[in-house]
Amino acid sequence: MRQRTEELESSNRALLAACRELESFSYTVAHDLRTPLRSMCGFSSVLLEDYPDRLDADGKEMLHRIGAAAERMGRLVDGILELSVATRSKLRRENVNLSLLAHDVVKVFNELDAGRQVETVIAEGVYAHGDPLLLRQVLENLLGNAWKYTGNAPSPRVEFGAGSQDGEVIYFVRDNGIGFDMRHAAKLFTPFARVHGVGDFKGIGIGLATVQRIITRHEGRIWTEGAPGEGATFYFCLTPAPEGIKR
Ligand SMILES: Nc1ncnc2c1ncn2[C@@H]1O[C@H](COP(=O)(O)OP(=O)(O)OP(=O)(O)O)[C@@H](O)[C@H]1O
Ligand SMILES: [Mg+2]
Repeated sequence: MRQRTEELESSNRALLAACRELESFSYTVAHDLRTPLRSMCGFSSVLLEDYPDRLDADGKEMLHRIGAAAERMGRLVDGILELSVATRSKLRRENVNLSLLAHDVVKVFNELDAGRQVETVIAEGVYAHGDPLLLRQVLENLLGNAWKYTGNAPSPRVEFGAGSQDGEVIYFVRDNGIGFDMRHAAKLFTPFARVHGVGDFKGIGIGLATVQRIITRHEGRIWTEGAPGEGATFYFCLTPAPEGIKR
């Protein structure tokens, strides 16, 4: 029995070390890709600006495409870095007023997107025990999605609140936007997976993967409910699942 436990512990340690190595590898690769990408973006726009007479329309179009592709790749690389930072940064747990954070996040959206009228409903006095910076990132992503995917709703509404179930606090972000088919629910949390057309809404598909990592680091859980055309709700809690309860 003891030998079996030791074997398990040792393979656990090896697995953890391999995960860390992989994580640090992807961070380094993403980080080092940024400089050459900046060169590609920079030089393709310099060529367009400084050599307009030496390029015909086809040549200009190709350079535009090179620049746009490099920019998109830059966003993907930034996404990988964001995910990596959410995984590696030190977790500092304290009491955090999520209501205040939500107000703050929504205020920024309102300023950046002044043309839109979005009804926001934020429950007051909602607290969590967790890392303030990482929890802010959770709300930025979830409220950001709610904001974005209500882009075509006639009366957009975004809500943040909390309730309790089986003795634990469950937080939620709800919207009345485009929604999604529940068959895709698990896929939404996979890095770079998107269920809506690329042209319809901007994004690279890294937000929810980052949110899930942060919640997992808090030993919590995240799940979602939605239906096409009927909006979406993202629930999360910051505690492990009690025995026998599965979500
Ligand atoms: N509130 C929502 N309503 C409807 N669909 C959603 C909602 N939130 C997320 N999704 C779906 O889940 C996919 C993944 O979300 P995620 O936040 O990871 O990526 P993104 O918003 O497309 O891009 P990014 O967050 O990286 O800018 C989205 O592309 C969208 O299809
Ligand atoms: Mg997003």
